[in-house]
Amino acid sequence: MPRTRTTKKLAQRIDLEYFKRPGPLRRWAFRLSVGLPALALVWLAWHGVRGDRRVYSAGALSSSHAVLTRQCAACHVTQAGFFSEKVADQKCLACHDGAIHQAAQKFTPSCASCHADHRGTIRLAATSDADCTQCHASLTTRRGTTAFARNIDGFESNHPEFAALRGGSGDPGTIQLNHYRHLQPNLLGPNGSRVQMVCTDCHRSAADASAPWTYGDGTGATTEEKNSATPGAKSTMPIGVSPRAYMAPATYARTCAACHSLQFDKRVPDAVPHDTPEKIHPFIVAKLQAYIAAHPADLRVPRDPSRDLPEQPIPADYRLLTPQQWVGERTVEAEQLLWRKTCKQCHTLIFEGDAALPKIAPSNITARYMPHARFDHSKHGLVSCESCHAAALTSQQSSDVLLPGIATCRSCHHSGAEAAESRCFECHTYHDPAQRKPAHSNFSVANLFGSSTN
Ligand code: HEC
Ligand code: HEC
Ligand code: HEC
Ligand code: HEC
Ligand code: HEC
Ligand code: HEC
Ligand code: HEC
Ligand code: HEC
Ligand code: HEC
Ligand code: HEC
Repeated sequence: MPRTRTTKKLAQRIDLEYFKRPGPLRRWAFRLSVGLPALALVWLAWHGVRGDRRVYSAGALSSSHAVLTRQCAACHVTQAGFFSEKVADQKCLACHDGAIHQAAQKFTPSCASCHADHRGTIRLAATSDADCTQCHASLTTRRGTTAFARNIDGFESNHPEFAALRGGSGDPGTIQLNHYRHLQPNLLGPNGSRVQMVCTDCHRSAADASAPWTYGDGTGATTEEKNSATPGAKSTMPIGVSPRAYMAPATYARTCAACHSLQFDKRVPDAVPHDTPEKIHPFIVAKLQAYIAAHPADLRVPRDPSRDLPEQPIPADYRLLTPQQWVGERTVEAEQLLWRKTCKQCHTLIFEGDAALPKIAPSNITARYMPHARFDHSKHGLVSCESCHAAALTSQQSSDVLLPGIATCRSCHHSGAEAAESRCFECHTYHDPAQRKPAHSNFSVANLFGSSTN
C-alpha cells in the first residue's frame, strides 16, 4: 500500500522541543564561548599583575630596541596607569636626539611616523620614501622659496641630475693638472725612469694617507700642515664622516714632489721648501750666502756676450762682485725662474702693484663636490675608479668636472632584488648633523629592567 505523505504527518515528525534540550555539541559550544574569554582575561590579568605588557604587543621590536620589549612605557604614553597605543616624541627624546631636518621646513612629522616600530628586526633608520616625498614631491618652505628641486618622487623617476654636473659649473680648483698626460704609459718619472701612474698614486682617503706615497717627498705633509702650529689638527670634514669615505686632496709633498723638483740654482743641491714666497725668499738668500762664502772664486763673473750693447765699448771679460752684489743678482735670477716658470706651471701667481713677491692663489681643491648627499668610496670597491670617473682618462684641464652623473648611480641603485638600495635614506641624512645634541638617558638599568612594573 502506498505511503501517503501529507504535510500534517510530516509536521508531526518535527521535534518542537529540540532547541530547548542541550545536546553535547551545543553544551560544549556554550562552555567554550564563556570559558575561553574568561581564560584570556585570567591570562591578561596574570600578566597585568606581573606588569608584563607584551601581551598587547603589535609585533617584534627593531633590533636596536629589542632590549626594551618588556618596557612598553619607555615609548608608549600611559594614561591613568593604562597602556595606550600612542607614542610621544618626548619618550624617544629621553634616550636619543632626533635633530631637526631643516630650519625652513613648514611642519615637523612625529618620530613614530617615520620610525614605526614592531615591524620585526628591521633597521629603523631605513625609512620609506613616502616619509620624504610627503614634502619633497612638492617642496615648500617657510620663506616661500627654495634653491632645491621642488618635485622629487623617487630616485629612479624624477630625481634631478647632481648640481656639480648641471649647467657647466666647472671646478674651482686652481692647481693645473693634465690628467690625460700624467696617465700616459712611459711617463718620465724620477731619475729618468719611465713609469705608468695610476689613480691611487695621487688619490687616497685620509685614512690611507699615512702609508708611503710612490711619488712623494718622504714627509707626506701638506703646505698647510707644515705651516700649522698643530699639524694634522685641521679637518674640513664634518663630524661623523668616515675617514675612508672621501679622497684627501692631492698635495705637492705626497704626489708631485718626486717628479717636479723645486730646485732654484744649479750650484745649490737643495730645492726651495714648497711654501709661500715670503718663506722661500729668505731661504734662497741664506743658501746663496752660504755658497758664496764657501766659493769666493765665483765672485769673478764671466762676461755674458749676449748682453753686450751694440755701439758700446766692449767691457772687461770679468766683473768682480761683492758677495752682497753676487747674492742679490743670483736671487733675482732664481726668483725669475721660480715665479715665472716652476711655480707657475702648477699655480696661478698674483703680482700686486710693486710688491717684491707675488702671492700664490688659493689652491681651492674641493674636498666634497656633493655636500647635500652622502658618498663613501670604501663601499664602492667593487668597481674600478675609471668606471665612475671615465672623464679622468681624457681630461686635459683642471676645470673639467670628472664626477659620475646620476645615470651611473642608477645602473646599480634601483628597485628590485638584484640591486643596491635606492631609497632616499641610503644617500641622504634627515637629521641635520650640525644640529645634533648629545642625549643623556635618565633611565638606570634598575628602573628600566629591574622592577617588573613596566
Ligand atoms: C622602542 C619604542 C617602543 C616600545 C618599547 C614599544 N613600542 Fe609599541 N609602538 C612603537 C611605535 C613607534 C609604534 C607606532 C606608533 C604609530 O604608528 O603612531 C607602536 C605601536 C604600537 C601598537 C599599535 C599597532 C601598531 O603596530 O602600530 C601597539 C598595540 C603597541 N605598539 C604595543 C606595544 C606593547 C604592548 C609594548 C610593550 C610590550 C610596546 N608596544 C613597546 C614603539 C614602541
Ligand atoms: C630607553 C631608551 C630608548 C628609547 C625610549 C627609544 N630608543 Fe631608539 N634607540 C635606543 C638605543 C640604545 C639604540 C641603539 C643605539 C643607536 O643606534 O643610537 C636606539 C636606536 C634607534 C634608532 C637607530 C637604529 C636603527 O634600527 O636604525 C632609531 C631610528 C631609533 N632608535 C628611534 C627611536 C624612536 C623613534 C623612539 C621613540 C618611539 C625611540 N627610538 C625610543 C634607545 C631608545
Ligand atoms: C621624515 C622622517 C623622519 C622623522 C620624522 C624622524 N626621523 Fe629619525 N631618521 C630618519 C632617517 C631617514 C634616518 C637615517 C638618516 C640619518 O641619520 O639622518 C634617521 C635616523 C635616526 C636615528 C639614528 C641616527 C644614527 O646616527 O644612528 C635616530 C636615533 C633617530 N632617527 C631618531 C629620531 C627621533 C627621536 C625622531 C623624532 C624627534 C625622528 N628620528 C624623526 C627619518 C626620520
Ligand atoms: C616636513 C617636510 C620635509 C620632510 C618630511 C623632508 N624634507 Fe627634506 N627638505 C625640506 C625643506 C623645507 C628643505 C630645505 C629647502 C630650503 O632650505 O630651501 C629640505 C631640504 C632637503 C635636502 C637638500 C638640502 C640639504 O641640506 O641637504 C635634501 C637632500 C633633503 N631635504 C632630503 C630629505 C630626505 C631624504 C627626507 C626623508 C628622510 C626628507 N628630506 C624629508 C622639507 C622636508
Ligand atoms: C699626478 C697625480 C694624479 C693622478 C695620477 C690622478 N689624479 Fe685626479 N687629481 C689630481 C689633482 C692634483 C687634482 C686636483 C686638480 C683638478 O681638479 O684637476 C685631481 C682631481 C681629481 C678629481 C676631482 C676633480 C673634478 O673636478 O672632478 C677626480 C674625480 C679625479 N682627480 C679622479 C682621478 C682618477 C679616477 C684618476 C685615475 C684614472 C686620477 N684622478 C689620477 C691628481 C691626479
Ligand atoms: C711620475 C712623475 C710625475 C708626477 C708624480 C707628477 N708629474 Fe707632472 N709632469 C710629469 C712630466 C714627465 C711632465 C711633462 C709631460 C709632457 O710634457 O708631456 C709633467 C708635466 C706637468 C705639467 C705641465 C703639463 C702641461 O700640460 O704642459 C703640470 C702642470 C704638472 N705636470 C703638474 C703636476 C702636479 C700638480 C702633480 C702632482 C699632483 C704632478 N704633476 C705629478 C711627471 C710627473
Ligand atoms: C708640480 C706642481 C706644483 C708646483 C711646481 C708647485 N706647487 Fe705649490 N701646490 C701644489 C699643490 C698640488 C698644492 C695643494 C696642496 C698642498 O700641497 O698643500 C700646492 C699648494 C701650495 C700652497 C698653499 C696654497 C693653498 O691654498 O693651499 C702654496 C703657498 C704653494 N703651493 C706655493 C708654491 C710655490 C711658491 C711654488 C714654487 C716654488 C710651488 N708652490 C710650486 C703643486 C705645486
Ligand atoms: C661608484 C662610483 C665611484 C667610484 C668607483 C669611485 N668614485 Fe671617486 N667619486 C665618486 C663620487 C660620487 C664623488 C663625489 C663625492 C663628493 O665629493 O661628494 C667622487 C669624488 C672623487 C674625488 C674628489 C674628492 C672627493 O672624494 O670628493 C676623487 C679625487 C675621486 N673621487 C677619486 C677616485 C678614485 C681614485 C677612485 C678609485 C680608487 C674612485 N674615485 C672611485 C664616485 C666614485
Ligand atoms: C643613490 C643615491 C641617492 C638616492 C637614493 C637619492 N639621492 Fe637625492 N641626491 C643624491 C646626490 C649625489 C645629490 C647631489 C647632492 C649635491 O649636489 O650636493 C642629490 C641631491 C638631492 C637633492 C638636492 C637637489 C638639488 O636641487 O640640487 C634633494 C632635495 C634630494 N637629493 C632628495 C632626494 C629624495 C627625496 C630622495 C628619495 C626619493 C633621494 N634624494 C634619493 C643622491 C641620492
Ligand atoms: C657598481 C654598482 C654601484 C654603482 C655604480 C654605485 N653604487 Fe652606491 N652602492 C653600491 C653597493 C653595492 C652599495 C652597498 C655597499 C654596502 O652596503 O656595503 C652602495 C652603497 C652606497 C651608499 C651607502 C654608503 C654607506 O655609507 O653605507 C651611498 C651613499 C651610495 N652607494 C651612493 C652612490 C652614488 C651617489 C652613486 C653614483 C655616483 C653610486 N652609489 C654608484 C653599488 C653601486
